[in-house]
Amino acid sequence: MAVLNPHFQKLKTDYIFPVIEKKVSDFKKKNPSIPIFNLGVGDVSLPLAPKIAEAMQSAIEEMTVSTHGYGPPEGQDFLRNAICKEQYAQYGLSPDEIFISDGTNSDTCAIQELFDTSCTVGMTDPTYPVYYGANIIAGKKIYLLPTTKEQGFIPKPPKQRLDLVYICTPANPTGTALNFSELQEWVDWAISHEAILCIDNVYSSFISSDEIPPSVYAIAGANKVAIEMRSFSKSAGFTGLRCGYSVWPKTLELSQLNEMWLKRTNIKSNGVSYPIQRGAEACFSDEGKKQLQEQITLYRQSAKILSDGLEKLDQIFFGGKHSPYIWWKIPIDGNSWEFFDILLENCHMITIPGSGFGACGEGFVRLSSFIKPTIAKGAIDALHHYFATNQLFSQRI
Ligand code: MLT
Repeated sequence: MAVLNPHFQKLKTDYIFPVIEKKVSDFKKKNPSIPIFNLGVGDVSLPLAPKIAEAMQSAIEEMTVSTHGYGPPEGQDFLRNAICKEQYAQYGLSPDEIFISDGTNSDTCAIQELFDTSCTVGMTDPTYPVYYGANIIAGKKIYLLPTTKEQGFIPKPPKQRLDLVYICTPANPTGTALNFSELQEWVDWAISHEAILCIDNVYSSFISSDEIPPSVYAIAGANKVAIEMRSFSKSAGFTGLRCGYSVWPKTLELSQLNEMWLKRTNIKSNGVSYPIQRGAEACFSDEGKKQLQEQITLYRQSAKILSDGLEKLDQIFFGGKHSPYIWWKIPIDGNSWEFFDILLENCHMITIPGSGFGACGEGFVRLSSFIKPTIAKGAIDALHHYFATNQLFSQRI
């Protein structure tokens, strides 16, 4: 009989995002006439920018008159060149160090395949749950690095040696972002511990301060130890289209990694479809950039409405400045699922309980600002009304 992968047994809880989607759908079924404020899964809510849609349409037209069969698994040159020119040439990187994929979810899951099972993998707690699940399934040894309110949810390099460490900055779920000196500390630690950093940088378009590095490669020495991952999902509304990229410098101290990732990509992928890559390329056109900036500005406005609203209620929270996420300390004595239920029942507001991101996430809920400002305003009004009329909360204002 086939022996099943025993590591699956170690996944004790369900993957959080489908659990939340099920809660949303159950609530809608039970209350079809009640509008909900969905601040749960970080999915975009604005339509595709016209310039991008246009580029994809014309790619499809092109395919009706000429053949576009298999493309290079590592991505079309036009897209690798555009990404490099816009984002990485300034750090001395070249297009053959950039690999296109169907998104950062896949890339962060796959990176561990390049390392031996004896390698130790570090990640923060709370963390984006994909890193944890993928490494558990692969049988890797995981070390959780507790990241707490007391340290402002800024992860610190550990004392022990680790081989591969995931850092999400700007962070999902806590919304915090490492500044230059904090990220430099990680790079220096990785150099001295011969570790590799996997920097998940998918929220970089939300950075709004010069004190936060736009890329890990703005940090001295990062090209020796860091792999950076980004996607078009959150910056350009590609969650339903799928396109991302990762950067594998040839200058890494483990210099084989670039070649190994290429080999892995050749074996495991037939690449991202041609029209999607043309759409991604259009994100870097002048008009594309302008349209995407308008979208990010709207999401930022929503984050500001949510932050201001929580501040008025005297709440403790992190994020919302350089990230679309707000990490709210729950104002009750119960746990984060209990608070999730309170918000859903009374304010018709969907959040994500912090415990879904790890044990250290308990005591918090995450709010996504990938919503229109009118929805953010509705959610805050509902919250203010509930706090004002509820004994438990009115004592805390
Ligand atoms: C989230 O954090 O909400 C995610 O980006 C959603 C996902 O990866 O499915």
